[in-house]
Amino acid sequence: MRILVTGGAGFIGSNFVHFLLDETEHEVTVLDKLTYAGNLASLAGLPEDRFSFVKGDIADAELVDRLIADHDAVVHYAAESHNDNSLDDPRPFLDTNVVGTFTLIEAARRHGSRFHHISTDEVYGDLELDDPERFTERTPYNPSSPYSSTKAGSDLLVRAWVRSFGLRATISNCSNNYGPYQHVEKFIPRQITNVLRGVRPRLYGSGQNVRDWIHADDHSRAVLTILERGRIGETYLIGADGERSNRTVVEDILRLMGQPADAYDHVVDRPGHDLRYAIDSTRLRDELGWRPRFQDFEAGLAATIDWYREHEDWWAPAKDATEAKYRAQGR
Ligand code: NAD
Ligand code: DAU
Repeated sequence: MRILVTGGAGFIGSNFVHFLLDETEHEVTVLDKLTYAGNLASLAGLPEDRFSFVKGDIADAELVDRLIADHDAVVHYAAESHNDNSLDDPRPFLDTNVVGTFTLIEAARRHGSRFHHISTDEVYGDLELDDPERFTERTPYNPSSPYSSTKAGSDLLVRAWVRSFGLRATISNCSNNYGPYQHVEKFIPRQITNVLRGVRPRLYGSGQNVRDWIHADDHSRAVLTILERGRIGETYLIGADGERSNRTVVEDILRLMGQPADAYDHVVDRPGHDLRYAIDSTRLRDELGWRPRFQDFEAGLAATIDWYREHEDWWAPAKDATEAKYRAQGR
């Protein structure tokens, strides 16, 4: 297939592009606006006969129409992705996550393209720490932040386009990813690069919040499985049973980096901070046979720490501006 990957210069999109080029015969075009979160260095060295890059906005209807006409499938990762930014300035989240997705599905329906929409478990809101339930495909939508509400809006657009216009789409909602090429604004890379710079990690609020971690490679493999064998119109939740409190993750990072486990600071909490996410991925496992390969979080985290240690040239250019933004928020 010729696959158009939107947002392929970002964290998960670039991991997916590497995965496709390493493990399949598919051809890939990346469409990416190269916002502060996009980085061409994440796509360096890819084979020119199977990979091309187009700089542009997913809300540019003419460009999107032309590109979609020329591809067999679209995998849509492009988004404004950071909750903290959405609390400061929601506008770009509406423009990209809602209007951008609308622009893509309009073109996909015109050309009868196969469309896969990447979304997040945050559309379901949050769970109590002691709730025995986890999110399933039947959990009602209840997003908390400007970011998650625009992702929820984009999911609903895709569902409506399937039903009203016969769009050949699938949706996946995944939990928190970790791995190489993640921007230093996000929790795990921020703490790793802080420690590498001799700065103490920063934990929002009490640190009891729980995230359900999955390695980006496992996410990529799940997305390809859904693209190739998922049922049209269906939603699949992707998760690897990786629930951990933020405090535990910071302690793991410090220990793996040879620091005392309590060498972190508590900072002001995120407004509306979701307490716990947890995914039940039974449908994806039973229907499509997907299984996560990274079962040992500490081993995956250690490999991620090594990656940031070895790729300071990749993350250093964004570090100072990111920390300046956090300082202004008191975090
Ligand atoms: P990211 O912020 O690292 O990357 C986003 C990419 O999209 C960047 O390369 C950016 O330049 C590009 N982009 C932004 N606006 C654009 C526009 N208007 N037109 C074209 N390109 C644009 O994000 P990420 O963490 O890799 O997340 C990718 C997708 O996965 C998002 O849809 C996000 O909601 C979803 N998701 C992320 C996670 C996670 O843990 N990071 C988990 C589940 C789902
Ligand atoms: O669940 C999937 C979502 O995971 C994706 O949809 C989002 O795109 C992605 O950014 C991520 O959202 P979170 O808000 O969970 O991720 P973030 O890395 O911002 O924060 C993870 C947790 O760590 C969260 O509880 C807030 C906390 N945190 C974050 C930072 C940056 C800290 O305690 N300290 C920090 O410095």
